[in-house]
Amino acid sequence: MTAPIDATSTSAWAELTAHRANFAPDLRAWFAADVGRVERMSLPLCDLHVDLSKNLVTDEILSSLVKLAEQTGVAARYEAMLSGEHINTTEDRAVLHTALRRPADASPSLVVDGQDIDADVQEVLGKVSAFAEGVRCGEWKGVTGRTVETVVNIGIGGSDLGPVMVYEALKPYATAGMTARFVSNIDPTDMAQKLEGLDPQTTLFIVASKTFTTLETLTNARLARQWLWDSLAKSGAINGDDASQADAVAHHFVAVSTALDKVEAFGIDPKNAFGFWDWVGGRYSVDSAIGLSLSVVLGPDVFGDLLAGFHAVDEHVRTTPLSQNVPVLMGLLNVWYNNFLDAQSHAVLPYAQQLNRFPAYLQQLTMESNGKSVRWDGSPVTTDTGEVFWGEPGTNGQHAFYQLIHQGTRLIPADFIAVVNPAYPLKDGEQDVHPLFLANFLAQTKALAFGKTAEEVEAEGTEGPLVAARTFTGNQPTTSIFAPALTPQVLGQLIGLYEHITFTQGVIWGINSFDQWGVELGKQLAVQIAPAIQGDADALGAQDASTQSLIAYYEANRT
Ligand code: F6P
Repeated sequence: MTAPIDATSTSAWAELTAHRANFAPDLRAWFAADVGRVERMSLPLCDLHVDLSKNLVTDEILSSLVKLAEQTGVAARYEAMLSGEHINTTEDRAVLHTALRRPADASPSLVVDGQDIDADVQEVLGKVSAFAEGVRCGEWKGVTGRTVETVVNIGIGGSDLGPVMVYEALKPYATAGMTARFVSNIDPTDMAQKLEGLDPQTTLFIVASKTFTTLETLTNARLARQWLWDSLAKSGAINGDDASQADAVAHHFVAVSTALDKVEAFGIDPKNAFGFWDWVGGRYSVDSAIGLSLSVVLGPDVFGDLLAGFHAVDEHVRTTPLSQNVPVLMGLLNVWYNNFLDAQSHAVLPYAQQLNRFPAYLQQLTMESNGKSVRWDGSPVTTDTGEVFWGEPGTNGQHAFYQLIHQGTRLIPADFIAVVNPAYPLKDGEQDVHPLFLANFLAQTKALAFGKTAEEVEAEGTEGPLVAARTFTGNQPTTSIFAPALTPQVLGQLIGLYEHITFTQGVIWGINSFDQWGVELGKQLAVQIAPAIQGDADALGAQDASTQSLIAYYEANRT
């Protein structure tokens, strides 16, 4: 195992510490004094135009940050990941989500641990596409001979957030007459509401679980199976005996998993199961067979374009010098804000309604990856790690939490994401609505950067204590990401961008961004507490006083 390099011991870190000591950011002055700043700091990333100029950095700081990436071995670690080294040290696994989007004719083939990864990926992708085509053209039929109209993906975490986010983003590409729904929460409300109005004869369930052991997903899969059996029997579509039930499952359930034996044990025919591999992390899996629902509803071509978008970013990261490498630079900026300017969170604010689930998706990607306090060799981290990612689509956020970003006491770096051409170019009378939306994106980034001085407030006639209340300090850092339109390729590029930002931060902090041991304790305790809340006195007695008291409240109020 290559030991992590302690970022805090590098000369680049010492430089950054010195920059921090005398740091007095002044975006107004920087812009006034440097007409080339915007051009220098606006970089292309495939189809994306990324404007970094409103970040709180000088050229000197940026160059020390790039030096930090060099001294901590970001490029070498990226090569190690691409080539299949087991950089997921705690699980002794390769990390090869980038292989999921290599083109079919990539040469030479990627062989890892004696396995032709490209061949494996293309085989599953071919199976996914063929299945999707079969459903889309009506070859795949339900138990009564009807074709599929609704796909219900049952999964959680990476087996849900990616598919639902992409579906929301690319809905304009969905095939007419086909829709998808996504059930994730074990709160029975989720399943009950998602089943509402569904016709079992035209519904296809996809049980998506990498491990096929996840409590929420298996419980929901059983609920869906029971609903299918009950509703088909009630309408007389099946007679309800064991054989008819098995037949119903065969026509209405497929699965995506790395554990195909467990899929079979659930009653799903292995020929209707789509595999992937332990080298794909759940939160990096939307471009694996976990995207089956997308291939069905949006079509294999759209799914292929999404993968091409990811791959374009992988290539950018691999071939672009660090000083122009957009994901690396954005990761470095995040390190600057976290470790030198005390930022604790990072907002992602899409000015595209279709990206409404993007912040939620990023929360798993970034926080499950980098919320760690030990490094990949088991030693403690030497500095703060993962910040909190959060956000809402604009302009909703403007009327909710932007007050705190503009005038609060905390530094909150924010990424604004917008597209030039909307999917739905509606008009309000003669007025295009979308430019009004974009004016808000531009206004917010401008206000955050340049603020409003007390003199400017006074010049408008305000006096006394109100002046301070109406003053905006500015110097709130933002990155603007602009794209021509939210195409499948652009979406793949956006997701890939954030994957590699996350990777860069993880390498600098020396952490394994690909395990998630922190979610295990809660899962174990839920299994122990389940009998306690269902009346088992011994299990209840084993709980702490607060848990016992909460269970007593539950008992007392249960109707
Ligand atoms: O929450 C932990 C986690 O393991 C995630 O990493 C994963 O995406 C999710 O659970 C779902 O896991 P699975 O796909 O195995 O059901």
